[in-house]
Amino acid sequence: MNSPPNTIPTLSAMQSVQVIKELLARRSFLGGLKAMGDHLGHVFQIDMPMFKPIVLSGPDAARQILVSDREEFLWRNEIDPVTQLLRHGLLVEDGEKHDLLRGYLQPALQRSRTQNYLPLMVANIDQVTSSWGKDSVQDMLVEMRRLALLILMSTLFRVDVSADLDRLWVPILRILKYISPGLWLLKPGLFRSGYQDAIREMDEYLFEVIRHRRENPIEGDDMLSDLVRREDMTDDLIRDQLLTMLIAGHDTSTALMVWLFLMLGDHPQAMERTRNEVDQVLGRELPTVDNLSELHYLDQVIKETLRLYPPIHAGNRLVSRDMNIQGCPIPEGSRTIFSIYLTHRDERSWPKAEEFIPERFDRRDSKTHDPFSYLPFGGGPRNCIGAIFAQIETKAILARILQSYDLKLLSSRVIEHMGATLEPGPRVMVHVSRRK
Ligand code: HEM
Repeated sequence: MNSPPNTIPTLSAMQSVQVIKELLARRSFLGGLKAMGDHLGHVFQIDMPMFKPIVLSGPDAARQILVSDREEFLWRNEIDPVTQLLRHGLLVEDGEKHDLLRGYLQPALQRSRTQNYLPLMVANIDQVTSSWGKDSVQDMLVEMRRLALLILMSTLFRVDVSADLDRLWVPILRILKYISPGLWLLKPGLFRSGYQDAIREMDEYLFEVIRHRRENPIEGDDMLSDLVRREDMTDDLIRDQLLTMLIAGHDTSTALMVWLFLMLGDHPQAMERTRNEVDQVLGRELPTVDNLSELHYLDQVIKETLRLYPPIHAGNRLVSRDMNIQGCPIPEGSRTIFSIYLTHRDERSWPKAEEFIPERFDRRDSKTHDPFSYLPFGGGPRNCIGAIFAQIETKAILARILQSYDLKLLSSRVIEHMGATLEPGPRVMVHVSRRK
């Protein structure tokens, strides 16, 4: 019998060579990470000169991090760019501060309210696609980002950002770069120049939005109105929540939509089946909560895309006391990465894990999955607050576009790009032609 390990596994020299090969073959750090997981299992340490995080994956580790020991795995790490950017936003608070904010923000993202956003979502979709004309080539990374920003701002904040989008585009992209993995991981706390103007520009915009709403309150139950009505929410605190929602809520949806276009473009049968379903269920009617809920195959396509390419592919945590995970000692202060990507590609949970098989999510299939083997929206009390919103939004966008357009994927050499989210890169060009 093997005795439990009492040190955290790392790669041998021979294994390192194989991992580097895989990394180069897939032109993706995640390809290398997958090879590491295959060699080392659910708990291991990356052992690079200045970068030694502990990587955890699989349902058991997920339960421990997200539920049973969640108080010990902190989200807030003062020297991380995400904390420096979002300051006291929901995403980077722990304990009571987090729970209080979550209570303030949650109502605007509950199913009952999210359903009311649907007409606005559809109007935004039509606004963006109207510029495509009858026949054109579009970079979906640009188009979906534009759309996700319009939707998020118009629904949650009741702000029409159309006229300001060109001005905000560069600051938003700079901010995403600021929080993307980079050299700062090797030297945490490093001062990084070139981002302060972008953050200042975004702040000025958000403070103006808050000031305007305070002076011109509106009837209604959007998130911004909820926040300005609360006496304990200062402008600074509201700014932190708006920026958190803006970043966490639009970059993820953008990535998911673009992966969906890629998956459907690469799998013509799935594309045809999805389109037929949209034709049968929606015909020429506008998307509604009821007809979207009948798009069962589309739902499977979305779930399978989220399995293969979870936009949030990992959760970063700082360990607040000495811990033990599956026999491995994890010292206080360790930086851990819980890999959703590895968990979703584990053959033990997902046979033929590297293949795109939407049918594995067919609800009529009797096989059930351990809920902690599938975590595109995280899990436990700190799961994604926008999960319902994102699912309604994604279905509406895809259904509405397929109602009106035939799509042909033109980009063939796409890689997994680890930006603020996991997105395809460098471009995803799609030929769109209006359906007769
Ligand atoms: C496809 C779309 C989305 C995906 C895949 C996604 C994924 C996730 C995941 C995996 C987490 C947990 C991360 C962890 O445990 O480390 C999370 C948290 C979060 N998400 Fe999302 N998300 C999406 C859309 C949204 C939207 C639309 C919003 C806002 C409107 C949003 C706001 C947040 C926030 C604020 C948190 C932190 C929640 C907390 O700490 O209490 N997300 N998301």
